[in-house]
Amino acid sequence: MTTLTGRYSTAEKRWSGVGPYYAMFPSSFAEQIILKYTSVGDRVLDPFAGRGTSIYSAAINQRIGIGIEINPVGWVYSKAKLNPAGKSSVQNRLEEIGRNAFRYRRATAEMPPFFRHCYTEDVLSFLLTCRSWLNWRQSKTDWTLMSLLLVHLHGKRTDSFSNQMRQAKSMSPPYAIRWWKENNQQPPQIDPVKFMQKKLDWRYKRGCPVTSNSEVYLGNSIVRLGHIAKKLSAASENVKLLFTSPPYCGVTDYHYDQWLRLWMLGGEPSPSAPQDSLRGKFIDREKYKKLLLDVFRNASRTLADDAIVYVRTDRRKLTLEITKEVLQEVFPHLRMRSYTRLSPEKTQTDLFANLPAERGETDVVLYPR
Ligand SMILES: C[S@@+](CC[C@H](N)C(=O)[O-])C[C@H]1O[C@@H](n2cnc3c(N)ncnc32)[C@H](O)[C@@H]1O
Repeated sequence: MTTLTGRYSTAEKRWSGVGPYYAMFPSSFAEQIILKYTSVGDRVLDPFAGRGTSIYSAAINQRIGIGIEINPVGWVYSKAKLNPAGKSSVQNRLEEIGRNAFRYRRATAEMPPFFRHCYTEDVLSFLLTCRSWLNWRQSKTDWTLMSLLLVHLHGKRTDSFSNQMRQAKSMSPPYAIRWWKENNQQPPQIDPVKFMQKKLDWRYKRGCPVTSNSEVYLGNSIVRLGHIAKKLSAASENVKLLFTSPPYCGVTDYHYDQWLRLWMLGGEPSPSAPQDSLRGKFIDREKYKKLLLDVFRNASRTLADDAIVYVRTDRRKLTLEITKEVLQEVFPHLRMRSYTRLSPEKTQTDLFANLPAERGETDVVLYPR
């Protein structure tokens, strides 16, 4: 029985929506795969965890999820879903920040024009306080509050902190300012603490999800997987399902498209090309192949003899060809099958694909012979 289909009648379902992220797995799909290929207590590994959909599905179904994500936005969403703080501590922290937001009022004037078109002064001083006070890497209360703030940082003008914007992708400042001016759109006049309190009421209405002992690491899988493989081997443990979706070649810039949420986590107040090439757009064929080879090779060291490898990727030629090449090279002993989905329903690439005709994903699955 899956828990993530249907209405919001459980905590697991309510928390599964944290948070908006490009190229995410539909939650019910991730859960179906976990239930089909694993049993209670099995380990599931996702080295490109994104917002942690696979790991969360594993954790609420008594499997052990192990995720790695290089983008702090995805990481903080995953962390909050796997291990959320109780409502009262998040509420107390929210109120404490609200009481102190006046301290950051002067700082709002120093922000680039984009911010003053996007948020009212009240909201911006509140956000600046959260940005500076929340210890989201280490404190459970703070990663929970931060992740829920990020969910609402931008989106529909009537249901977010921001002036009208997309929810999954941050717009470029010149484009957004021009659009707001042309359409005479002003930032919404909201009390940020009351706004968040309502959002907390909705999220916690059915309590917190019950999750098993799972973990998501912030960092580069090429490095992290080595440590994980050593740890598992020392404990004679292994992974039953490698379930992941790598970045798609040439499709999205994982840094630029999230620049506003990354700013909230301490980044620059404008979209900028990341220093680290792994965080940007994957366009170079050879570099892309090397990333996949390094990650899948290292991941293979954690797998049980009868493990299944399930990879969802872009169905377009370049990404698919490279992915299959790499999987064949790393797992020559497994039997490969692929299934292409051209369904009219929303796909992971909807936001970024250039042509509607190219929409769709391919699932490449490798089974023991
Ligand atoms: C297609 S998305 C995965 C989405 C995920 N399935 C979900 O449901 O949210 C690919 C992810 O891989 C991450 N990534 C890219 N290179 C990485 C690396 N070297 N180590 C860890 N994560 C990486 C990107 O930041 C991005 O979040």
